[in-house]
Amino acid sequence: MRLANRIGLITGGGSGIGEACAKTYAREGAGVVVVDRNMEGARRVVGEIRAAFGRAEAFEANIGVPEQVEAMIGFALDKFGRLDLLHNNAIYSVMGVRAADIDLKGWQRTLDVSLTAYWYASRAAINTAMLKQGGGVILNTASVSGIAGDYLQCAYNVAKAGVVNLSRVIAIEYARKGIRCNAICPGPILTPGIRGIGRNPDKWLRQVAEGIPMGRLGDPQEVANVALFLASDEASFVTGTTVVVDGGLNAHSGMAYAPGRGPDW
Ligand SMILES: NC(=O)c1ccc[n+]([C@@H]2O[C@H](COP(=O)([O-])OP(=O)(O)OC[C@H]3O[C@@H](n4cnc5c(N)ncnc54)[C@H](O)[C@@H]3O)[C@@H](O)[C@H]2O)c1
Repeated sequence: MRLANRIGLITGGGSGIGEACAKTYAREGAGVVVVDRNMEGARRVVGEIRAAFGRAEAFEANIGVPEQVEAMIGFALDKFGRLDLLHNNAIYSVMGVRAADIDLKGWQRTLDVSLTAYWYASRAAINTAMLKQGGGVILNTASVSGIAGDYLQCAYNVAKAGVVNLSRVIAIEYARKGIRCNAICPGPILTPGIRGIGRNPDKWLRQVAEGIPMGRLGDPQEVANVALFLASDEASFVTGTTVVVDGGLNAHSGMAYAPGRGPDW
């Protein structure tokens, strides 16, 4: 087991990518704190982990509130006595309007939940657990939306770009303290989160799949497999990097096929 005797905490662990990662960490021997503002999801995931693998605890927090971020790290330390892996993953995003039409409240909430909370949770984990323990791993779920722009998702794009560089800075500043930090950049992944976007999600998801060189969306487990590698000692010399998991989306310039040609040519 690749995470035996480790303790991990993941935000947004009650659904989608977070759920797949929480279960994968537990499968590999970690005790896991599943943090979510939706306790129904968190309790379900914890129940499934306990039934199949072992130790897990659910904790309710809105990561946009700094006191609740501190409380979630404190909870992990109270319950398990240490914290080896912090995976920042939950987000909020205002979307569907152009940059100049975003209101200030939506912008600030996006940045609070999707960027500031990642820094604040890392700060708490580093200061209260990882420095004292002599090391740890921080993983941040960023996105391909953090390394290129999308239409009508400006605040999300900015938050995710911030997460990518936050990961680099933490990596270099704490590299000699035994702390590794990396960002994962998923492309479109079939989760409850992405299924809920727009008025006609099925049609939109077909369009999204068409734009991906592999012709399909990813599965949350395909992200969790990468997260497991980065969380484990197999990645002992990997820090400050961004791993893209996107079926080739980010490799494509966006240029159309040659005239009369298509993906099946
Ligand atoms: N699904 C994709 O296509 C995709 C692509 C790129 C990046 N990502 C990233 O992956 C991560 C997970 O996305 P997903 O698609 O699995 O989402 P999801 O909606 O399926 O799950 C997100 C979970 O986060 C929880 N959450 C939301 N706001 C919270 C808050 N303020 N405090 C605590 N918990 C909160 C939700 O209750 C939910 O359980 C996000 O960082 C997202 O940006 C997803």
